Amino acid sequence: MKNSVLVTGCSGFLGWNLCRWLVKNRKDNHTVFGTYNRQKFSISQVQTLPLDLTDETAIAQALQRINPAAVFHLAAAARPNWCQTNAHISQRINVTAALNLATQCADQEIDFIFTSTDLVFDGLRGNYSEDESVSPVCLYGEQKVAAELRVSDRHPTAKICRMPLMFGAAPPTSASFLQGFIEKLRSPEPLFAFTDEFRTPASAQDAAAGLVIALEKTVEPVGGLRCLHLGGPERLSRYDFAKKLAIALALSPDQVQPGLQAELTMAAPRSPDTSLNSQRAFALGYQPGFVEHRLKTVVGAL
Ligand SMILES: NC(=O)c1ccc[n+]([C@@H]2O[C@H](COP(=O)([O-])OP(=O)(O)OC[C@H]3O[C@@H](n4cnc5c(N)ncnc54)[C@H](OP(=O)(O)O)[C@@H]3O)[C@@H](O)[C@H]2O)c1
Repeated sequence: MKNSVLVTGCSGFLGWNLCRWLVKNRKDNHTVFGTYNRQKFSISQVQTLPLDLTDETAIAQALQRINPAAVFHLAAAARPNWCQTNAHISQRINVTAALNLATQCADQEIDFIFTSTDLVFDGLRGNYSEDESVSPVCLYGEQKVAAELRVSDRHPTAKICRMPLMFGAAPPTSASFLQGFIEKLRSPEPLFAFTDEFRTPASAQDAAAGLVIALEKTVEPVGGLRCLHLGGPERLSRYDFAKKLAIALALSPDQVQPGLQAELTMAAPRSPDTSLNSQRAFALGYQPGFVEHRLKTVVGAL
C-alpha cells in the first residue's frame, strides 16, 4: 500500500504551509515528501528533494523513488508580472510541467491536486462560482486556464483547486503579500493599498486544509473539470485588508492610505474583482476563517 504524499514547491509559500499542515495533521503515518527547485530547503518531518519539473526524466525518477499515493502540485511561476515578461519559461513551468506531471500520475494511478488561481477570471463581476466561464486578462491566468484543461484531459480524476489571495506565515525562501504589508506598516511611511482590487483572501493554513478536503472528497465535474474554489468567507479590497492588519498589529489604521490599482502600470493587466464563490467547497467541509480572526493568529505568532 502506498503511504506517502508528495508536495511540489515546498520551498514556496503555499507548499511550505501545506507541508506543515500535513505534518501536524498527519494520518496513517503517511510520509510527506516535498520538492524544491532552486532553493535548497528542509522542513522538519518532511523529506525534501530537488526536482526541476521542466525535466520529464527527473519527474519519472522522483515518482519512482517516492511512489506517492497523491501529488499536490503547487510548484509554479506564480508572479503574474514575471510570467508576462518571461512568457516562454513561465509556459514551460505552468503548463508543460503540470501536464507532464499529471500524465505520469495518471499512468501510475496517483491522485493529483492542481493549484490554479482566481486570476482565471477577468474580474468584471466578482463572486465567481465554478460553473462560470473563465476569462483571463493576463498571461499567468491564461497559462493556468490552459493547464486546468490539459491536466483534466490527461488525468480525468485530477482536482483543480482555484486558490484565492492567501496570507500567512512564510518560509525564508518565499513570502505572501502580508510580509511586505507588515514591513511597510512598521516603517514611518504610509502603506498605500488598493481600494479597487477585490479578492476573497484566505489564510494559507486554511487553504492547505482545503487542498486536503479536495483530495479526500468526491468532487463532481463542472463543465468537464473537477473544480473547487477555495476562497475565504469575505470579499475585501486590499485596502480593507490592510486596515484589519494594522489593527491586528496594534497600529493605527490611519497608516493605511487609499491607492488605485487602475492608476498603476504593471507588466500584467489585473482583474479588478476576482472574488470567489466557494459554496461548493464549504458544503464539503472547507471552513476558512474570517480575515480579522486569522490575522490575530498569524500576527500573534510573529
Ligand atoms: N500566493 C498566492 O496568494 C496564490 C494565489 C492564487 C494562486 N496561487 C497558486 O498557488 C500555488 C503556490 O503558489 P505560491 O505563492 O506558494 O508560489 P511561490 O511561493 O512563488 O513558490 C513557487 C514554488 O515553485 C517552485 N518552482 C518554480 N519553478 C519550478 C520548476 N521549474 N521546477 C520545480 N519547482 C519549481 C519554487 O521552487 P524554488 O523556489 O526552490 O525554485 C517554489 O517552491 C501556485 O500554483 C500559484 O499559482 C497562489
